[in-house]
Amino acid sequence: MLELKNISLTIDENKILNNLNMRFDEGKRYVILGNNGTGKSTIANLMMGVKKYHPQEGKILLNGKDITDLGVYERAKLGITIAFQNSVRFEGITTFDYLTLGGKVKASLEDAKKALELAGLNSDYLKRRVDSSLSGGERKRIELASILMLEMKYVILDEPDSGIDMMSLETISNIINILNKRGTTTITITHREEIAQNSDYAYLICAGRVFNEGAPEKMASYYKELCDRCDHPNDLLKIAESR
Ligand SMILES: Nc1ncnc2c1ncn2[C@@H]1O[C@H](COP(=O)(O)OP(=O)(O)OP(=O)(O)O)[C@@H](O)[C@H]1O
Ligand SMILES: [Mg+2]
Repeated sequence: MLELKNISLTIDENKILNNLNMRFDEGKRYVILGNNGTGKSTIANLMMGVKKYHPQEGKILLNGKDITDLGVYERAKLGITIAFQNSVRFEGITTFDYLTLGGKVKASLEDAKKALELAGLNSDYLKRRVDSSLSGGERKRIELASILMLEMKYVILDEPDSGIDMMSLETISNIINILNKRGTTTITITHREEIAQNSDYAYLICAGRVFNEGAPEKMASYYKELCDRCDHPNDLLKIAESR
């Protein structure tokens, strides 16, 4: 179980997360919903241990063990990984090297082909370099394939659908379900109702806090009806008044 307990995070005097509490049980599919700038990617970075996102208050616990001070590499060794909202580029590395972490992941060519195929790309991409010659959507798909190559306990997907066309929502749901079958906990940040429907539990974030949580259908319709047409996003005072 991965837990965020009473987390507050300030960057450059800007309070971004505000007494945040979340819990992710093993083997479940979670979604995080919320308007732009409410703190979703910040939560993702914080869970992954990205340096700038160390909380000033609160704790991150993995099966009860405090991992708040562990960095990205140490957390990866504990089985936590992320596909960032803006896919990373590695100039010079081929897709095959990227998928196998330069040989560190013991995987066959067939495994790499299969992962690419599940992410919606054919095996021609194995030879391509993961650089600016790839389109944004292609890089995103390669990153999703790389997630499939690793046996991780917790996978954070920060807007896996951004830059990917409508038809590919099925690809993303499919990948989430494959991970779920392996017993991986998935934490997907999304604005898409269809992805929320394909999950077990949803968190709705506003102003760096959990504003509401529960059944995905309920949270998705709440988000659509209220947050989508909200005229006071991230305004804590108005949010408090409206509750
Ligand atoms: N490294 C940083 N330095 C300064 N401000 C930051 C930093 N990271 C995030 N923020 C600020 O924190 C707030 C939340 O940002 P975050 O990226 O978490 O939003 P988000 O919910 O992921 O939004 P989106 O849906 O647009 O991706 C924003 O106001 C953003 O400008
Ligand atoms: Mg974001």
